[in-house]
Amino acid sequence: MGEKIEFHGSDLEKISEYYQIAPEKIIKFGANVNPLGIPETVKKELSSNWDIISSYPDRNYTGLKETIGVYCGVAPSCIAVGNGSTELISLLISQRKPKKTLILGPTYSEYERELGLNGSETYEYHLRESDNFELNIESFLQFIAEGTDLIILCNPNNPTSSAITHGRLETLLTAAQKRNIFVMIDETYVEFAPDVAETTAVPLTSRYGNLMVIRGVSKFFAAPGLRFGYGITSNKEFLLALQTYQNPWSLNSVGAFAGERMLKDTSYIAETRKLICSERDRLYTQLSDMPGVKVYKPYGNFILVRLAKEGITSFKIFEAAIKEGMMIRDCSSFKSLKGEYIRFCIMMPKDNDRLIRCIAAQLGTGFF
Ligand SMILES: Cc1ncc(COP(=O)(O)O)c(C=O)c1O
Repeated sequence: MGEKIEFHGSDLEKISEYYQIAPEKIIKFGANVNPLGIPETVKKELSSNWDIISSYPDRNYTGLKETIGVYCGVAPSCIAVGNGSTELISLLISQRKPKKTLILGPTYSEYERELGLNGSETYEYHLRESDNFELNIESFLQFIAEGTDLIILCNPNNPTSSAITHGRLETLLTAAQKRNIFVMIDETYVEFAPDVAETTAVPLTSRYGNLMVIRGVSKFFAAPGLRFGYGITSNKEFLLALQTYQNPWSLNSVGAFAGERMLKDTSYIAETRKLICSERDRLYTQLSDMPGVKVYKPYGNFILVRLAKEGITSFKIFEAAIKEGMMIRDCSSFKSLKGEYIRFCIMMPKDNDRLIRCIAAQLGTGFF
């Protein structure tokens, strides 16, 4: 211990073994999952419907697509469902077959891995720390190189928690459409945004055939093990290509059953938003006042913090927190995030307080 070892966000087992802490005792500040756990209504319904495992899911996922349609305000015919947003990201890339892809980074590493497997050349536009990781749309548009045929964005973005709102999204989509560039927007975290309507690109899918929005239930509905994701596009030709290539029944019957019920649980959705929005404001204010750190305005359910005190590294904070049973994300593995950064998601208030106290103690601020 004390010596720097590389861990990734989901390396719970490795971390638990290394620090000798039982996995169930670790508070997962690195997983970006809603601390409320899956909705009680879904648990109840699942426990009395296990027989669904004995049937194949509806091959067309008709009921599920109708529910997603109502949840997102789109026609079911614009929807693809899959095995987590991961499957849809992979399908989109393999079916678009991009030659040159622009990624808005620093961001989730899976896009680059998938593009590499499919032989796309990739390059990255770096969100600037000096702009607090907010996108400067003019500079981004100027950066798009000749021959680019795919742009990938995550909104709100992991790990910066910054977001692009409607006006800039439209400017970007219009410019991309003129240049025949397809745009994939990963909205895994959008339901946590302070203003979802201002942030989501879903309503723009009807006007932009060069757009697909990808979402899932892993984070907001605390269901990463369910592997349910969906994509929305008005480009029927592309949707057909994607579905033709996809394995039948790729989302299993439990995922389809539980997924449909989650999206209908309006009181769970309201409770989650109340918790995340109030804790996010509270933590952002506390961190903004804390000497030795810089915090960026968060739009997701997680917060990025730069450690700005001499001698304080992201690994030092990671280690102090894990020794108290709190696993945060040391961001040093994010390419193009130069400096000492940590990311942690919003958990229950008493756990959040404990983490803030731990960070403050490491910084020696005596702040809390
Ligand atoms: C930005 C982003 N997209 C997609 C995923 C994977 O989502 P899913 O579980 O729906 O495949 C993650 C997981 O951490 C993520 O951070």
